Amino acid sequence: MNIKLISISFLLLFTTFTIRAYDNDVIKMIISFLIYNERPTSMLVPYLCWDPYQIKILVKSLCDEGIGTAYSFQYNRTEYHLQYSVIIADLDCPRTSKFMLMANQQGYFKSPYRWLLLSSNETNPILEDIEMSVDSDVVIARRINNERFIFTEAYKISEKSEIIYTKRLVWWNNDNTKANQETINKLPSKLNVISKALIPGNLLVNGKDSSKNIFLSNYGVIEDYRETKVLSARRNNLKRHTLTMANVITDSNETRKHMDDRLHLHQDSITKMSYGVVKVCFEMLNATEKLIFTHTWGYRDKNGKWQGIVDHLIKKEADLGTLTIFTQERMDAVDYIAMVGSTAVRFVFREPPLAYISNIFTLPFTGNVWLAILICVVGCAVFLYFTSKWEASMSMHPLQLDGSWADVLILIIGAVLQQGCTQEPRYAAGRCVTLILFVALTILYAAYSANIVVLLRAPSSSVRSLPDLLNSPLKLGASDFEYNRYFFKKLNDPIRKAIYDKKIAPKGKKPNYYTMEEGVEKVRKGLFAFHMELNPGYRLIQETYQEDEKCDLVEIDYINEIDPWVPGQKRSPFKDLFKINFLKIRESGLQMCLHRRLQVGKPKCSGQVATFSSVGIQDMGPAMLASLYGVLLAPAILALEITYKKLITAREMRKSLIEDQFINPYLD
Ligand SMILES: *[C@@H]1O[C@H](CO)[C@@H](O)[C@H](O)[C@H]1NC(C)=O
Ligand SMILES: *[C@@H]1O[C@H](CO)[C@@H](O)[C@H](O)[C@H]1NC(C)=O
Ligand SMILES: *[C@@H]1O[C@H](CO)[C@@H](O)[C@H](O)[C@H]1NC(C)=O
Ligand SMILES: *[C@@H]1O[C@H](CO)[C@@H](O)[C@H](O)[C@H]1NC(C)=O
Repeated sequence: MNIKLISISFLLLFTTFTIRAYDNDVIKMIISFLIYNERPTSMLVPYLCWDPYQIKILVKSLCDEGIGTAYSFQYNRTEYHLQYSVIIADLDCPRTSKFMLMANQQGYFKSPYRWLLLSSNETNPILEDIEMSVDSDVVIARRINNERFIFTEAYKISEKSEIIYTKRLVWWNNDNTKANQETINKLPSKLNVISKALIPGNLLVNGKDSSKNIFLSNYGVIEDYRETKVLSARRNNLKRHTLTMANVITDSNETRKHMDDRLHLHQDSITKMSYGVVKVCFEMLNATEKLIFTHTWGYRDKNGKWQGIVDHLIKKEADLGTLTIFTQERMDAVDYIAMVGSTAVRFVFREPPLAYISNIFTLPFTGNVWLAILICVVGCAVFLYFTSKWEASMSMHPLQLDGSWADVLILIIGAVLQQGCTQEPRYAAGRCVTLILFVALTILYAAYSANIVVLLRAPSSSVRSLPDLLNSPLKLGASDFEYNRYFFKKLNDPIRKAIYDKKIAPKGKKPNYYTMEEGVEKVRKGLFAFHMELNPGYRLIQETYQEDEKCDLVEIDYINEIDPWVPGQKRSPFKDLFKINFLKIRESGLQMCLHRRLQVGKPKCSGQVATFSSVGIQDMGPAMLASLYGVLLAPAILALEITYKKLITAREMRKSLIEDQFINPYLD
């Protein structure tokens, strides 16, 4: 709408002939300026009250140099194109102020648009009302004498602060031999520099002594007064402007007083880490810091409202915030500036002992070995049976096998359980078999028991992924922070949903949210996985665990996010400055140094400490169970034996009775 208005007023201006005439110098000056930018440029003249003929000359000359021109703001171009636009306005045209205010309202003075304002006055009151922030690129060109123009940069640190003017370039026309002579006089007396430099379009001198660059082209000579061509490098002194950082406090309100004194390190470590780096950044910018505190990072509630840091950033009450995890919703509300620290929220647990996961009494041998043992024992039993039968037919001795299966069974059980047996074969064949059986089983026994001892204390590496976690006997819990509640509800793939529904918040029960201290203690006792922020968690673990309890800690990632970044306002004028300074802090190693001061890595146990560790009932479970079955089976077998004995006696009684009856008639 507004743009249309502007275009219309532009047309009106032509028809009402409020036209200013300019000499060729102005046009040459503009072209020189645009060429000197040394990057792709297109010129926008949405409002210029010049003679159409002069505008045509300007457009044509620019076209020869490969620079396009447009008569509107071209507001439908993609964002990537904006950086190429240089908007030209003439402050001496009537009603330019109105046009500039309108452009200002629509944000055309923000980065990455560039402006060239032509003015005959050094200052202009209209500039006071325009938002030329630190990242804006506004240049005012003013004629200082007949053949010279001076280019002044203007920007403001904040909306209300005063305008800062710096000298950027001086241009003069090189048709004039006097001016040319002046240029050459300024050069160092190295002939080769001059001969090389006199080709138009070349940088003439990169004078270190005068810290000025001189640029020569067909359209005039430009002398550059900037220290560096990088805008943000020239404007990184904010002159004590107040920048605000929003900090999250979740652990204790005491944190406000201990932001950088290294007391109470386990409280709000992520807040302190972010602050440490941001503080350095503010100092580099010569800014005054202001801290505000809140209790949450900010999530969108049912009404679409934000709280905490995100809210402060949206309302422009804060410039930066504590490290924040990326979420899609937040990306629309704030800009992520830099990764100044790392932390992670993961499940941490001690590996459950192998005995809890599987039956260690079957583990020492593979199935094939067990089969081989069985075949060996059965084979020996069969052979012993035959030899003992043969021995019994030869002669009988009280300590000799009596040739029945029962005696063979007793001997075999004695051999398998390493007990021995009072009855033994008496001839070579049987003795050979017994010897082989005993030797084989003794060797196997030694191997088996050695293995069991190792396995009793072995940690199982069976829990390494989320499905393992779901199917393991581990109980799960999470630290009682808002991000945990948010992510557990938000992540909805089947595995994570099952973990949440079955193990963290089972229906009808209280969800398993614990304080850090409770959670870490539960982890220590074992068979419990705790979803917590690693840095404070590991600090607690370092403080409270025994040395050998730190050895088997395992992490599993659940929310699967990249490291958190420092958030800032959307399209903040300071964004580039922040980004550049955060990178400098990171590259110089300051960031790493701050981390080392605040962060605790995963606890390492010092070597393989040989500590005594007890074996519980659960470790021996299967063995105890086997004994229990044996104990229960014994009375049953006893009862069976008694019944059998009674049956035999009864049968003999009947037999003798029948015999008696059979004999008696003869006696009577
Ligand atoms: C710019 O785009 C909007 C919608 O995307 C469209 O309505 C408008 O007509 C376009 N304007 C021009 C000048 O193309
Ligand atoms: C230049 O500024 C002075 C004082 O600020 C003012 O009197 C004068 O009218 C201005 N000239 C133009 C052309 O705007
Ligand atoms: C910071 O800004 C103040 C106020 O403008 C100024 O006096 C001081 O010299 C600046 N400090 C640095 C290191 O530039
Ligand atoms: C900190 O104080 C505020 C009120 O001043 C209170 O609502 C909040 O629960 C306190 N936080 C902690 C962690 O003590």
